[in-house]
Amino acid sequence: MTEPTLILREFAIYKGWLGPQMQADLVADLRDLVAQAPLFAPVTGSGKEMSVRMTSAGRYGWVSDRRGYRYERHHPKGMAWPPIPAPVLAIWQRLVSAERLPDCCLINFYSPDARMGMHQDRDEADFDWPVLSISLGDDALFRIGNLTRGGKTESLWLNSGDVVVMGGAARLAYHGVDRIRAGSSSLLREGGRINLTCRVVE
Ligand code: SIN
Ligand code: MN
Repeated sequence: MTEPTLILREFAIYKGWLGPQMQADLVADLRDLVAQAPLFAPVTGSGKEMSVRMTSAGRYGWVSDRRGYRYERHHPKGMAWPPIPAPVLAIWQRLVSAERLPDCCLINFYSPDARMGMHQDRDEADFDWPVLSISLGDDALFRIGNLTRGGKTESLWLNSGDVVVMGGAARLAYHGVDRIRAGSSSLLREGGRINLTCRVVE
């Protein structure tokens, strides 16, 4: 069994799980993917534009617009989402399950000034399946909260190549990204950070 580097409030953190070559290969896959399913700027139900840009891979993609948050079979432009890249599925198989593969890999792109407010991932049908997160590019200050909004939180920096498994009590814990450390990684030519989250949706 593969042991995480550290466990923080049941978030299992695998520091440097992906080596430099693996990270570069994954970025190449993601460039192809984004060419097929372009990044878009999601809007919250109240009409506010989120600072991250996103797209998805898999049978489902996560979208947010004036109608709210949900999973959809198609990109907002109408095409089916591309398949989840094989290296991402291999990480899932190693750290989560060899039997059940994720239905969705959400791809979030953070420019240096992007952030993500504290939220729960709760649009999926079965919370027994963890969410797997992969960080690429610039460092991110990741904040871990509680099962309800507010209360004491803990933060840690996620670096390029880190993988986090959010299962058990972590599955419904509030979490967010406070800030990106611009220029901390040279993985992405234009800078910024990519976070992938794989989810079982239905
Ligand atoms: C998310 O919660 O969807 C993203 C987390 C991250 O960017 O590390
Ligand atoms: Mn989340």
